[in-house]
Amino acid sequence: MTIPSWNVFFLYFVFLSLISHTRGAPAADGSPLVAGQTIPLRRRNPSPDLDIHQRGQVAKFQRDVVLARYFGGERPTRRSSGDNLLVNQAYDSGYYGTLAIGTPSVSFDVLLDTGSSDLWVAGTSCGTVCNGLPLYDSSASTSFKNTSQSFKITYGQGEASGYVATETIKMAGFSVFNQGFAVIDEMSSGFLSAPASGLLGLAWETLALSQQMPFWQTLASSGTWDSPLFAVQFTRYTNDTQAQALEPGGVLNLGYTNSSLYSGSIEFIDIPSQPSFWYITLTSVTVQGGSIPLGTNAIAAIDTGTSNIGAPLSAIEAIYAQIPGSKPASGSWAGYYQFPCSTSVNVTFSFGGSTWAMAPADFSYAQVGGSQCIGAFFETTGNNPSWIIGDAFLKNVYTVFRYSPPAVGFAALSDVALGENGLNGVPVPSPTIGSATAAVTGNAAPATLRFTPALIGMGVAFSLLHISLV
Ligand SMILES: *[C@@H]1O[C@H](CO)[C@@H](O)[C@H](O)[C@H]1NC(C)=O
Ligand SMILES: *[C@@H]1O[C@H](CO)[C@@H](O)[C@H](O)[C@H]1NC(C)=O
Ligand SMILES: *[C@@H]1O[C@H](CO)[C@@H](O)[C@H](O)[C@H]1NC(C)=O
Ligand SMILES: *[C@@H]1O[C@H](CO)[C@@H](O)[C@H](O)[C@H]1NC(C)=O
Repeated sequence: MTIPSWNVFFLYFVFLSLISHTRGAPAADGSPLVAGQTIPLRRRNPSPDLDIHQRGQVAKFQRDVVLARYFGGERPTRRSSGDNLLVNQAYDSGYYGTLAIGTPSVSFDVLLDTGSSDLWVAGTSCGTVCNGLPLYDSSASTSFKNTSQSFKITYGQGEASGYVATETIKMAGFSVFNQGFAVIDEMSSGFLSAPASGLLGLAWETLALSQQMPFWQTLASSGTWDSPLFAVQFTRYTNDTQAQALEPGGVLNLGYTNSSLYSGSIEFIDIPSQPSFWYITLTSVTVQGGSIPLGTNAIAAIDTGTSNIGAPLSAIEAIYAQIPGSKPASGSWAGYYQFPCSTSVNVTFSFGGSTWAMAPADFSYAQVGGSQCIGAFFETTGNNPSWIIGDAFLKNVYTVFRYSPPAVGFAALSDVALGENGLNGVPVPSPTIGSATAAVTGNAAPATLRFTPALIGMGVAFSLLHISLV
């Protein structure tokens, strides 16, 4: 969920209280709603671009390291794919899936976040701030190993901290032994809401603060998947007045794309240089048919862990200039704009090919006062990436995250997928880890293993592999 600034956190709680008033009761268990609204802090300058040859070298290098680490150098013979049914938490605020940790396996709900790269779950050592969350108990698992490395992820004013361990992690039929993850024993209050106990980072290892290869990347790089990619389809409940706090959320497909969920072809957009976030170049944005100036080299992170869409101030101003009666929101909504709820706002995005439309329902983030609504676009302060494209857009497409060659793909949702939006009375999926289809054995390797002199000497700046989050 990338890195929220404190004020967005604050905004989020304002939002939560709004929706809990306007949208009915929270979950039946009385739990508060999930945190999902986040924006990134400043990051380092962009990586110098790698040419296709260098990217091939990086891909080969990464694969060799993984094969050595998880398979003793052998390529696994068995390939497979799997699904994890998702839950839509708090009217599209967050989407979580289920994985299992330990021996014996215990399942946990984790928010899907393509804007960060660590898997973490709250542990039994976590204090009262974790009350009500299902907690991971290392003493109950025979496969727990403590690396004793400390872990801390900072979210503006809030943070989560603990230590790094390795465990058997299972999801959607895949098992990874000795997968690195973080056990959280301190966390800012309200960051997670039951039943979610943690977060599954789905961005690249280069961003992993735990210095552990992410679960998805372990599987993708080891050749375990039928296709080296994963994909998501998210449901929309934001404009459904009958919606409950937990609703069916769509699906995470691992190792394949499900052609029942999209129509037409998948348009892949290459990641312009060494992957860290899932970031691609944004080439066009329109609002009410008018074009928004993007400047040169507008880079957008595709981030399932952010509810809304972050953009630079100049773009925010141009966007709302297309919407009569809009103005900057104030107080706790600073950074957002308000507009007349009666206006249906059409936004489109293009990344060099097709034009993808966002539903007007997804533009209307929250209602404040009688006739004023808060728009889904907020101002970002960082510039790499300068755009954060979150769920407000991703609900409108089938999104594919491809490991090799690194790319993000979009396709139109099929009627089957669209038919899952705003369905009432459908039970949320129960936790499942799928039947075992493939297993990977790991050995948490020291981070240094990942950086060979050859790689550095090849002209790949060392900093590429050490993008720091401030
Ligand atoms: C794991 O190691 C860390 C750092 O030494 C320590 O704080 C933590 O208590 C350990 N956890 C367990 C369950 O031993
Ligand atoms: C693809 O998605 C459809 C609709 O959700 C589902 O019925 C089907 O089982 C999925 N196909 C595969 C191969 O998993
Ligand atoms: C928004 O898009 C819809 C569907 O394409 C169109 O009918 C409508 O006129 C558009 N509204 C504006 C203000 O551009
Ligand atoms: C919610 O928004 C979607 C997309 O704009 C629309 O198709 C659907 O009819 C809306 N649902 C309700 C209940 O208004």
